[in-house]
Amino acid sequence: MFKGVLFDLDGVITDTAEYHFLAWQALANELGITIDRKFNERLKGVSREDSLRLILAEGKQEDRYSPTEFAALAKKKNDHYKEMIQSVTPADIYPGIQSLLTALKENQIGIALASASKNGPFLLEHLGIMALFDTIVDPASLKAGKPAPDIYEAAASQLSLAPSECIGIEDALAGIQAIQASGALPIGIGKEVDLGTDIALVPDTSQLTYDFLCDTWQNQIH
Ligand code: G6P
Ligand code: MG
Repeated sequence: MFKGVLFDLDGVITDTAEYHFLAWQALANELGITIDRKFNERLKGVSREDSLRLILAEGKQEDRYSPTEFAALAKKKNDHYKEMIQSVTPADIYPGIQSLLTALKENQIGIALASASKNGPFLLEHLGIMALFDTIVDPASLKAGKPAPDIYEAAASQLSLAPSECIGIEDALAGIQAIQASGALPIGIGKEVDLGTDIALVPDTSQLTYDFLCDTWQNQIH
């Protein structure tokens, strides 16, 4: 049986992936760069700075800004994003997530947050689920972001587990790749076209039950 579950946050626990998109789109518009939802799939799971680099490259503006201007643009996006998440409440937790967390706790399964977002602790507090998490990885402590395995390796290690004893849950391709590279078992939330055909997928979190995790684990060769 798996001993830990490593959760992404944005787009897995709540709908903040949409807020990230809206905040990036507003900034991109100001810079005269058009980004759509298809492009946004490349931003999911990617750090604030790397996301800005991808957007500037899309607009062929990668050499336009000094490091100070670049930092100001990243801050502008984050200020806008933070405004949007001020009103987050427990009612914003995605369907099924609260009962999954409770079931994991009842079964003594470790629970870790493996989000690249520096706003993760704020969101867990405002969603009212901070106490259910055993540990949170500090994304600032990592050498490489998703798709590198670092964040999932750190999450498992902070639970005193090996990644191979854990399930990782993600809505982004970079995140699935990070889980696979760490040796944990991925479960994707979303579509085959975005996340691939070689992993267990649910279309939305309402199907992410404790039983589903157990079945997915049992169906793997370990
Ligand atoms: C997550 C999200 C990304 C976001 C990143 C950094 O990985 O999926 O969209 O860019 O976190 O978030 P932050 O809140 O620190 O800017
Ligand atoms: Mg995500």
